[in-house]
Amino acid sequence: MAFEVPREDLAQRVAEAADLVTVALDELLPRASGPEARLTEAMRYAALGPGKRLRTFFAIETGRMFGAPERSVLRAACALECIQAYSLIHDDLPCMDDDDMRRGRPTVHKAYDEATAVLAGDALQTAAFEILAHPDTHPEGGLRAELVMKLAQASGARGMCGGQMIDILGVRDDLGGVARMQRLKTGALIACAFEMPLVVARAKEAERHAVLGFAHDLGLAYQIVDDLLDAEGDAQAMGKAVGKDAAMGKANFVTLLGVDAARERLTLLSDQTKAHLEPFGEAAEFLRASVDFVLERRT
Ligand code: IPE
Ligand code: IPE
Ligand code: MG
Ligand code: MG
Ligand code: MG
Repeated sequence: MAFEVPREDLAQRVAEAADLVTVALDELLPRASGPEARLTEAMRYAALGPGKRLRTFFAIETGRMFGAPERSVLRAACALECIQAYSLIHDDLPCMDDDDMRRGRPTVHKAYDEATAVLAGDALQTAAFEILAHPDTHPEGGLRAELVMKLAQASGARGMCGGQMIDILGVRDDLGGVARMQRLKTGALIACAFEMPLVVARAKEAERHAVLGFAHDLGLAYQIVDDLLDAEGDAQAMGKAVGKDAAMGKANFVTLLGVDAARERLTLLSDQTKAHLEPFGEAAEFLRASVDFVLERRT
C-alpha cells in the first residue's frame, strides 16, 4: 500500500483520542452529593476507566477526514463511550457473563453491588442521549436528532442489545449465525462510530457508502481478533477473563473455524477492509492503518 503510517504515529493518535474523550467525559458526567453520589461514582468508575477508546479513535479520524466540527465529533464519541461502558457493566453482571474483572479492575458489581451496577448502566445510557441532544453538540436540532437516532438504532434491539440476546441464548451453530450475532452485538456500535461523524460532516452518499463498507469489515475483523484473544490471550494483559466462550460451549469464529483458519480469514479481511478506502487516497491513511492496529492488538 502506497500510504504507510508508522506504528508509533498511529499509537500516538489513538492515545490522544483516548485522552480527549476521557477529559471530555469527566466534564460531562454528573457529580452528586448525598446518597445518589454512589450512582455517579459508579458511572465514573466505569466510563473513565482505562478502555482502549477505539470507537473514539474511529470517530475522531473519520471526522478529521471529512472536516466535521471537532467539538460535535468529540461529544458524539463521549456518547458512544457511555453506551460502551453501560454495555460492559451489564455484560459483566452475574445474570449475563458473570465476570469479576474488566479493564484490569473489579467489575462495577464487584466494586459496588449489583443494584448499583444496573443503575449505573441505565444512567450511562441516558447520559449518552442527553449529551447528543444538548445544543452544544450541534446548533441544528435536526442533525442532533439524526445522531440520536443512529446511536439508538446501533444500541437497541436491532443492534447491540439484540446481539446480546442472541449471545445469551446461545442460538448459533454455524458461521452465518455467528456473523449475524457479531453484526448486531459489536458491529453496530463500531459502525456508529463512523456514521455519526459522517452525519455531522454531511458527507455525500457515495462517501458514506465507502466508509460504512470499511466499518462493517473492520467490525468483523475486530470480533475475530476478540475471539482469538479469548482463545489464546492473556487475562492479565486483557484485563478481563479469557477462555469464556469455549468454557461455556458458545460458538464463535474461533471455536468454529479453529485458530489457523481464523487467522487466515483475518489476513484476507485486512486487504478487503482497506480496499473500501481506496477512493480517499492519502486522506484515509490513519483509518487504513487502524486495520493493522485492530489486527495486532493484544489487549
Ligand atoms: C469489548 O470492547 C467488548 C467487545 C465489543 C468485544 P472493547 O474491546 O472495545 O473494550 P474496551 O472499551 O477497550 O474496554
Ligand atoms: C460483549 O461481548 C459485547 C457487548 C455488547 C458488551 P463479550 O461478552 O464477548 O465481551 P467481553 O469479552 O466480555 O469484553
Ligand atoms: Mg457477553
Ligand atoms: Mg462478556
Ligand atoms: Mg468476548
